[in-house]
Order: sequence, then C-alpha cells, then structure tokens
Amino acid sequence: MYLEKGYLEKKIDPSLDLFKEISHLKKEKNAIILAHYYQDADIQDIADYIGDSLGLAQQAKKSTADIILFAGVHFMAETAKILNPKTKVLIPDLKAGCSLADSCPPNEFSAFKAAHPDHVVLTYVNCTAEIKALSDVIVTSTNAVQIVESFPKDQKIIFAPDKNLGAYINKVTGRNMVLWNGACMVHEIFSLEKLIKLKAQHPKAIVLAHPECEAAILEHAHFIGSTTALLNYSKKSEAHEFIVLTETGIIHQMQKSSPGKTFIPAPPNNSCACNDCPYMKLNTLEKIYNTLKYEQPELLMTEALIVKAKKPIIRMLELSAQFGL
Ligand code: 13P
Ligand code: SF4
Repeated sequence: MYLEKGYLEKKIDPSLDLFKEISHLKKEKNAIILAHYYQDADIQDIADYIGDSLGLAQQAKKSTADIILFAGVHFMAETAKILNPKTKVLIPDLKAGCSLADSCPPNEFSAFKAAHPDHVVLTYVNCTAEIKALSDVIVTSTNAVQIVESFPKDQKIIFAPDKNLGAYINKVTGRNMVLWNGACMVHEIFSLEKLIKLKAQHPKAIVLAHPECEAAILEHAHFIGSTTALLNYSKKSEAHEFIVLTETGIIHQMQKSSPGKTFIPAPPNNSCACNDCPYMKLNTLEKIYNTLKYEQPELLMTEALIVKAKKPIIRMLELSAQFGL
C-alpha cells in the first residue's frame, strides 16, 4: 500500500539552514505544511497552518497546493488524502501512528457494530480509514458534543474508539452511547495525585484539559475542550497561570499567544516531567526536509477505501459548517 516503510533516511549536510531550505522547497514545489499542535516547536514555526484535527481536515480539503506535507500522525494524513485525493500527501515518518487508532482493529469493530444493528456509528477522527469506512459520522473533539446532540434523544449510538471522550460526551449530553474500549496512551497517563499537588502549589491556576483524559482527571478541570479550544481559552482568560492537561506541544502556541502568562504541563504517572506523544514526536525538521526534497514517503490509499471513508467525514464537515465551526 505504501511506497516507503517508515522514514526515508538520507544524509543531510549539517551546514544547511533547514528553515531556509524547507521554505525554498515549499515554494519550488508549491507545497504546504499542515501541522498539529503536538508537533515540536520548530515544526510548528515552519508550518503554513497549525491546528486541531477539525481545522487540519478543513485546510486539507480546501488546499490548492500540489503537495501537502502532513506534520502530524498517520490518521490525520489519511484524512487529508481522503478529502483531497488528487494532491500528493507526504508524511515525514509513516511509523507516526496513534495508540488510540490502534486500539480499534477493523475486524473487531465490524463484529461490535454487527452486535448493535440499530445503532448509529459515531467515530472519533483518531481511527484508521478502515474504521471510518464502517462509520456513519466522524467527530472531532471540537464538534463531538454538537454532532451527538444533532441526533434525537432516543437514537441508539455506538461511539468509538475513545472511551474517555465517549464518557465525557455521555455526561455532558445525558446520552447513553455504547462505548468502544479504546484510549490514548498520552492522555490516559496523567497522574491524579501529582495534579492535586500541582493545584495546591498553584491555587490560582486555571486547569485546562483535553476530553481524552480520564473522568477523574476531568473532574479537576476548569475548562475542557479540543486543543484549539484550550488555546483560545488561554488567550481570552484573564488568569496568569494555567495547568495544561494535554500533550505538551500545545504550550508552544499558548506561550507565543500569551507571552506574559505561565503554562505548566501536568505530569504523567511516570518519571517524566512532560507528557509527549511518542508518535507525534517522530517527526523532525530533518525528516521534513528529506520528505519534501525526495517527495517520499507518500501516503497512498486505494480509491475504494477513499470513497467509503469520505462519506462520514464529509457528513462531519457539513454538520460542522451548520454549527459555524
Ligand atoms: P484535537 O487537536 O483535535 O483536539 O486532537 C487531539 C489529539 O489527540 C490528536 O491526536
Ligand atoms: Fe494518538 Fe494520543 Fe498521540 Fe493523539 S496524543 S496521536 S490520540 S497517541
């Protein structure tokens, strides 16, 4: 299915200014770089657009570039390809997957779906294209609550793959969606004990959390939302200190937008001080340079899969537009 497995290793002249070289390659090849907030700061700084999953999908769909280099993870690049199949989509490292997407294998999900025949299938965008092809509507953390609420109260719903986001939506909407038992390895390992201590040390800090966190963590949050929503909240808030319960990459944009404010990454339940996504962090400036230069690895998908996976994503984009998102 793919031209390359993983990352194309080519030696790079260490004297090169990679920021300049990448800018030059972008112009020469009419390429754009779409980056997620969880990317390293230097990758965010060379991106043409930085956003959350919904924003990135919307940008990919309307792009007129010849090449989209997707600095994020595999399911995000797949979504870009599905929405803009004629464009060449490059991903710096094909091994940049997602533990949440991996927690939902298509054969097991098909059986789960078959066991709930009268249910609508709502699926979080953090899943493979095969899972999207088995879904009725895709959601992201930005639009999930509104999309669920667009269905009648008595509509039976399956929600996959994130049980934490699903439980959060059930709580907010009063629904009883049947949840797939998946989770994100990054958001699941925030330490409740360390969070309580941190809050005691910073009693004025506002706690911002992504809904992929566990319910016990979310109970401590002042605000819960997608990465873009967390960023926007931090910009508008008059508070000076924030404890951030999502991947640490987002703090780069928070700090850039509000230089006078302090952002404290909430610690995980291991010896690390920060909580980085190992998949997102596979991408580097060096890999981006090689990927643009050699136009590999390229993300390729079959036409049949693109057609099947596109329907529920388009449904999501149409609903999002109705909600003004
Ligand atoms: P959003 O940026 O859409 O909130 O998603 C977070 C995430 O976990 C991406 O992998
Ligand atoms: Fe997947 Fe979690 Fe990494 Fe996002 S942060 S890409 S959900 S493993």
